[in-house]
Amino acid sequence: MKKIKVGFADRKIEFIDRDVALKQIENFAERGTRFPIVIYGPEGCGKTALFRQAKAVLEEYGYSVVYVNPSGESIEERFSISEELRGLAEELGAYLLKDISSLIEKAVEILYIAIRRGIRRRIAILADDVFQVIGLDKAEILIKSFLNMIEWPSIDYEKIVVLVSSSEGVSRERIGRHTWADIHIMWNMSREGFKQLYEVLSEPKPSFEDVWRITGGNPRILEKLYRADWDIDFVISRMIKEKDIHLWIYSLNSESRDILMDIVDDPDTILYKLYNEKVKKLLKELIEKNLIVSIWDREPRLWIDTPPPEKDLELGIGKYFAWQTPLHREAIRRDLEMYISKQ
Ligand SMILES: Nc1ncnc2c1ncn2[C@@H]1O[C@H](COP(=O)(O)OP(=O)(O)OP(=O)(O)O)[C@@H](O)[C@H]1O
Ligand SMILES: [Mg+2]
Repeated sequence: MKKIKVGFADRKIEFIDRDVALKQIENFAERGTRFPIVIYGPEGCGKTALFRQAKAVLEEYGYSVVYVNPSGESIEERFSISEELRGLAEELGAYLLKDISSLIEKAVEILYIAIRRGIRRRIAILADDVFQVIGLDKAEILIKSFLNMIEWPSIDYEKIVVLVSSSEGVSRERIGRHTWADIHIMWNMSREGFKQLYEVLSEPKPSFEDVWRITGGNPRILEKLYRADWDIDFVISRMIKEKDIHLWIYSLNSESRDILMDIVDDPDTILYKLYNEKVKKLLKELIEKNLIVSIWDREPRLWIDTPPPEKDLELGIGKYFAWQTPLHREAIRRDLEMYISKQ
């Protein structure tokens, strides 16, 4: 399997690890997907890198692939298609489109035309991080339209693969209430894979153990630490600002703050106290702010790549809930402590 190059910490490196995920993608390629596969995972865990690698895998299996990512900065990051579709995309003016809904429509149209014109009979659409931009209501409609595409194709395809990714925990509930998609979760990198990524970075750098303990295997956090010259405090302060944690902590009453401190120590506190309305509200907010992920089940078929360890409180991983990374948890802990010290 050809490994693609991805950008990481100011360099281009070969796609690392994720062997289980790549096997799963090969399975999708062999069979096609019966439902859209929706993949949730912590921010920066490597969904985009995986989708880009998946595009290469699917192409090796004879698929024509369209990849869209509305959050991409350049047009190449937002829209990428298999070589044989380039002419079609130009013909349809797809490169000029800014609005993501029409870009997805165009992507589907390109694939359909590719089949009608006999360019390919295996098609794949990879919609990376689309929910955040199109909004929750449209997210449901989009998934339904992808399902229709699979179930009632107006064209005669041989195989179809639809993969959708999101780090927006809130949309999971909305998509999950229908039976329109297969939902999977992807976690941060395994220790071994992450070690390889760590090795890419030159000295001086903290020990691998220290980096693992604060990132929990999240490549984006690793990149941020590297860019900040390994100044953990700075990266944490920035997260507190970006997620507006400060005001949020101020807005809580003392009971909620106490519960939040317990969640910092053990995220499963959420489950044990879920009878309490305040905890329900906290959970909703923690998911909305992309701080906590509901894990629940470690059945491997529900995951893309390998599930997180059973329970690892040092990394903020409970049996049922987990902090996206230890650094996310640390941001909350620090802000809570700062609040208390000022009282
Ligand atoms: N398997 C991998 N091999 C090499 N680099 C990787 C791998 N996975 C992720 N990276 C790098 O780590 C960084 C973060 O990954 P990526 O952007 O794919 O995360 P993401 O889950 O898509 O994030 P977001 O939730 O913000 O969309 C990127 O620089 C990416 O290239
Ligand atoms: Mg991404």
